[in-house]
Amino acid sequence: TDIVSIEHVSIPSMAKLFYFHGVGMINQFTKNWDNIQNFKARPDDILTATYPKAGTTWVSYILDLLYFAHMGPDRQTSIPLHDRVPFLEICKPPLPLHLTSKLPTTPRLIKTHLPVQFVPKSFWEQRCRVVYVARNAKDNAVSYFHFERMDSGMPEPGKWSTFLQNFMEGKMVFGSWYDHVNGWWEKKQTYSGFHFMFYEDLIEDCGREIDRLCSFLSLSPSPEEKERVKASVTFDNMKQNKMTNYSTFDSMNQTISPFMRKGKVGDWKNHFTVAQNEQFDEDYKQKMKNPDLKFRYEI
Ligand code: A3P
Repeated sequence: TDIVSIEHVSIPSMAKLFYFHGVGMINQFTKNWDNIQNFKARPDDILTATYPKAGTTWVSYILDLLYFAHMGPDRQTSIPLHDRVPFLEICKPPLPLHLTSKLPTTPRLIKTHLPVQFVPKSFWEQRCRVVYVARNAKDNAVSYFHFERMDSGMPEPGKWSTFLQNFMEGKMVFGSWYDHVNGWWEKKQTYSGFHFMFYEDLIEDCGREIDRLCSFLSLSPSPEEKERVKASVTFDNMKQNKMTNYSTFDSMNQTISPFMRKGKVGDWKNHFTVAQNEQFDEDYKQKMKNPDLKFRYEI
C-alpha cells in the first residue's frame, strides 16, 4: 500500500510559524527571548542539542540514568523525563524559573533544539559539555511530520507532500534541518567539549554508543550499571514507561500518533514516493556539501 496517499489526520493548532532572525520559529520558543539569551550556565552543565525528532528523548534518558540512577527509584518513577532534563527554550513557566526549579541536580542536564547561533553565550563561556544528536534527514522529516500531527503546540503539518516541501525549504520550527546540522557540525570543529552522535549508530549498537558517551563524560559505570541503562532505554521499554513516553504531556494526542512512534531507521521508505526521493536527493547534494558529514539511511 502507498502510505503517501493515506489521508493523515492532524490535531488542530493555533501555532503559526514565523521567521525569527532568519529561522522558522513559533511564539512559545521566542516570547522569552531575553531570558533565554541571558541564561547563566554553570561549568558542569551538560547541554543536549538536537534538531527536533532526532533522538533527544533517547539520549536525555541515557544521560539521566548514567548520572542519576543511583539516586534511587523515586526519580525514575515519579518525575517525567521532560522535567528531569528540561527544555531550555520552552516558556512554561518562563525561564529561568522553570529551569532552576527543576534542576536541583549536579550536573544539570538541559536540552535544546536551538540552532547553534541561538545558544545562550554562557554555555560557551562556561565551557559546558555539549552532546549533539543528528538523524538522517529523511527519517527526521517523517518523524517530524507525525509529531506535528499529534502535538497541538506545533503548527499543523498539512499533507505529507506539502510538509516535505516545507522541510526542504527550511520552513520548519527551529529552521532548516540542513542549516542546523551543518551549523552544529562546524561548531564541533572548534569547540573541544563536544560529542556528536548519530541516531543510526544508537540503533545499530546502543551499548557501544553508551560507552562512547561515558568516555566523553569521563564516567565509568560498572558493567551491571551499564546493562541496566541499556535495558531501560530500549524502544519498547521507553514506550511502556509513562515517565519517558510523554503520556503526561497535555498538548499531545497520542491516539493520532504516539510519541514513541516506530523508532526505526528507514521508515522514510514508507513515505517518500520515488519522485520525492529523487528530488530530495538532488536538493540534498546542493545543501550538504561537506564530505565529512555522512548519514546512513538504512542499517
Ligand atoms: P519516530 O517518530 O521515527 O518513531 P525526539 O526525542 O528528538 O523527539 O525524537 C523522537 C524520535 O526518537 C521518535 O522517532 C521516537 O520513536 C524515537 N525514539 C525515542 N526513543 C527511542 C528509542 N529508545 N529507540 C529508538 N527510537 C527512539
